[in-house]
Amino acid sequence: MAAMIRKVGVIGSGQMGNGIAHVTALAGFDVVLNDVSADQLNAAIATINANLSRQVAKKIITDGDREKALTRISQTETLDGLADCDLVIETAVEKEDVKRKIFHDLCAVLKPEAIVASNTSSISITRLAASTDRPEKFIGIHFMNPVPLMELVELIRGIATGDATFDAAKEFVAKLGKQIAVSEDFPAFIVNRILLPMINEAIYTLYEGVGNVEAIDAAMRLGAHHPMGPLELADFIGLDTCLSIMQVLHEGLADSKYRPCPLLVKYVEAGWLGRKSQRGFYDYRGEKPVPTR
Ligand SMILES: NC(=O)c1ccc[n+]([C@@H]2O[C@H](COP(=O)([O-])OP(=O)(O)OC[C@H]3O[C@@H](n4cnc5c(N)ncnc54)[C@H](O)[C@@H]3O)[C@@H](O)[C@H]2O)c1
Repeated sequence: MAAMIRKVGVIGSGQMGNGIAHVTALAGFDVVLNDVSADQLNAAIATINANLSRQVAKKIITDGDREKALTRISQTETLDGLADCDLVIETAVEKEDVKRKIFHDLCAVLKPEAIVASNTSSISITRLAASTDRPEKFIGIHFMNPVPLMELVELIRGIATGDATFDAAKEFVAKLGKQIAVSEDFPAFIVNRILLPMINEAIYTLYEGVGNVEAIDAAMRLGAHHPMGPLELADFIGLDTCLSIMQVLHEGLADSKYRPCPLLVKYVEAGWLGRKSQRGFYDYRGEKPVPTR
């Protein structure tokens, strides 16, 4: 039961990991943040502090709330540091082999009654659960980006997920003040099943020369009232994550309509991953983003 969740481990301290740690600590849980990179851990704490300070400036929280949330977050570079967590949320890179290895190593040290969750954008929860020693205590808890701002969390049960695990995850998400959408365990679940093919199509539109970056983003911002253009959004999500999700859709649903655009593949191969690498469909090195095509 969620009443027993007090301490939450977060594996991966990239943009999603720092957001999940932020909202979890703010809701009163103790948080242990893990990453393989010490630099990434330090950057995550700095980002959390900056984002909490922004909430203080906007009078959403008090400075006391900010301070308390920060003291609730500790860091660890090894999975041993997560051994006594009641819930561990994995949010490392969107690669199935990386996630499976994490779950295998985590379960060797984690207390048996703890719940394990993945924030995967697309990968089968049933398959990930099978790489643990506790498929009935495994669930998909899929946060949206940026975590402190977005209201929704998708909950995805694997075939073996127990009712107690589902109820505990539901209560935990409610304590964070988020709304739930329940999705069946299908490739990319609900939000990304709809969103990513749209983004991929925008990249095809660019690839085929139908419009340039500026025109495509303006078209969808002003012509469809999307808050961000699809290429801007792809850069924000991370082009590596976008490609991984399209590959999961393409392989999992075996339909050519999900074929990742070759231009997306090329950008990822070049290491142009969007905002996080300072270059994607826009160049972020200057004062304001400049379209690259
Ligand atoms: N970016 C989004 O909009 C978004 C939204 C919802 C869910 N997700 C999912 O969240 C996960 C993380 O995405 P992100 O955008 O935060 O990526 P990111 O690239 O910003 O961060 C990934 C982090 O994982 C760390 N990492 C890699 N291997 C690790 C390991 N073995 N152990 C611990 N840490 C490890 C990296 O050092 C990095 O800090 C992915 O599964 C992604 O699909 C992303």
